[in-house]
Amino acid sequence: MKLAMIAAQSENRVIGNGPDIPWKVKGEQALFREITMNGTLIMGRKTFDAIGRPLPGRETIIVTRNPGFHAEGCLTADSLDTAIGLASEIGKPTFVAGGGELYSLAMPMADALHLTTIHTSVEGDVFFPEVPEDFKLQRETGFESNINYTYRYYERS
Ligand SMILES: NC(=O)c1ccc[n+]([C@@H]2O[C@H](COP(=O)([O-])OP(=O)(O)OC[C@H]3O[C@@H](n4cnc5c(N)ncnc54)[C@H](OP(=O)(O)O)[C@@H]3O)[C@@H](O)[C@H]2O)c1
Repeated sequence: MKLAMIAAQSENRVIGNGPDIPWKVKGEQALFREITMNGTLIMGRKTFDAIGRPLPGRETIIVTRNPGFHAEGCLTADSLDTAIGLASEIGKPTFVAGGGELYSLAMPMADALHLTTIHTSVEGDVFFPEVPEDFKLQRETGFESNINYTYRYYERS
């Protein structure tokens, strides 16, 4: 199964500040929606808590060490490997959707990366990991908005 990651980072690689994403950029969430629609999202429990609900039109698998964790309309997994196994049974395009801990776990095994860079520097305490050199840029699109942003799609060679 092909595993993709999807993230938005600032120019200084911040992806979060506490539970929050520290920017509001018009259009950027629509891009996330378009790319992930009808797929499966794998996310860490903290990211799920920040969103608070399964996103419509997508399966959600929450990775947690807490065996008692349950969220309506979502599957839970005790590891990223378990989550990938569940996702491959579901058989839809699968995206690791954060946060920082999950991106770091997934980076060594991901086949593709959808990475949006928001053209601003912000303070935060959660960062996107370094993109390994074997991820090769396939496509790049610039968007103008209240803060300009650039979407880049990479595949592992
Ligand atoms: N900019 C973006 O694109 C983007 C996307 C998503 C999230 N975010 C931001 O990222 C931040 C959250 O990221 P985070 O790194 O703090 O947390 P996270 O990766 O969302 O979730 C961490 C949690 O995942 C579970 N987990 C992690 N490793 C595990 C493992 N090996 N086995 C089983 N469970 C494991 C644990 O849950 P338990 O504690 O329940 O065991 C852990 O507390 C927020 O600020 C959020 O807004 C940004």
